[in-house]
Amino acid sequence: MSLRSILAGCGGYLPERVVTNDELSKTIDTSDEWIRERTGIRQRHFAGKHETAAFMGTAAARAALADAGATAADVDAIILATSTPDQAFPATALRVQAELGVTRGFGFDLSAACAGFIYALSVADGMIRAGQVRGALVIGSEVYSRILNWQDRGTCVLFGDGAGAVFLRASDCRDDDRRGVLSTHIHAQGTLGDILYVDGAVGQPDKPGHLVMNGREVFRHAVTRLAEAVEEALAANGMTHADVDWLVPHQANSRIINAMGRKLGLPPERVVVTVDRHANTSAASVPLALAEARADGRIGAGDLVLLEALGGGLTWGSALVRL
Ligand code: COA
Repeated sequence: MSLRSILAGCGGYLPERVVTNDELSKTIDTSDEWIRERTGIRQRHFAGKHETAAFMGTAAARAALADAGATAADVDAIILATSTPDQAFPATALRVQAELGVTRGFGFDLSAACAGFIYALSVADGMIRAGQVRGALVIGSEVYSRILNWQDRGTCVLFGDGAGAVFLRASDCRDDDRRGVLSTHIHAQGTLGDILYVDGAVGQPDKPGHLVMNGREVFRHAVTRLAEAVEEALAANGMTHADVDWLVPHQANSRIINAMGRKLGLPPERVVVTVDRHANTSAASVPLALAEARADGRIGAGDLVLLEALGGGLTWGSALVRL
């Protein structure tokens, strides 16, 4: 027997305001055609003033707990991945903890850009396997609309706001019972930090920070690194492409998503896509996509789901989960 993290529930939150490509093209030198052709994005949600990372993270966490049939009393740990926290401190995770009425355990934020959710899942899974926690909320919550450079049409059309969450529950499983989080693999290459970054933060004088990206370089690394991460996950579990029921990829660009689906030999209907409606919500994109596919009944009990993401850092990783 060994301790395993069961993915007991998923939830998501999207801001009320929807902004189409056509609406963006009224103030930015771009077009619906360009954005759709290069990225697959049709629209994104932008947060209102009250829709901060903590607000959205709390809503997603509530939905995940409800989906799991769990309550605040079941939560030992909250790990929240974000690049756009409400405050430098306390951690956004602790604002969520307070809002949920969780009065024990611990929480912290994790910064790994668009790979943040995979990193947070990996940390939470490690803590559950070690017997440190029995119930963990893993959240990705982002308000990239606040760090976009509206003068840079190459980046500001690509991102949206939102939050996604999962609730992990510890379970004593037989070693041959292959349920729950089967593996996570996370990687980083700091030498590639300058191809995708935010050029400031609260610790920098007079620099709130805007997102800067070399899109071509990111694209090139994304396809290679994500393919490696996927193969690594399958090899670690003695599995092949044929075992995967669903791919839930980071939602940055439909061309990267399609390339990954093809590499795995998965038909398009087995790849969960939200980028067309959400754009890139960074650390929120994978749990949001997962929550959507669970809620509409596509992904069900027993399905083998492959998650992957890559982001600024460079950071990337994968997780293999049996629901
Ligand atoms: N609307 C219209 N034209 C635009 C535009 C926009 N929003 N953004 C850029 N362009 C123009 C450029 O100015 C350039 O014009 P030029 O040829 O006259 O100089 C042309 O389109 C091509 O630009 P380029 O940046 O070379 O386009 P691309 O084919 O590389 O596509 C991305 C750009 C960003 C869509 C693509 O590089 C990409 O998807 N990269 C990966 C990004 C990513 O996944 N990031 C997140 C990782 S977490």
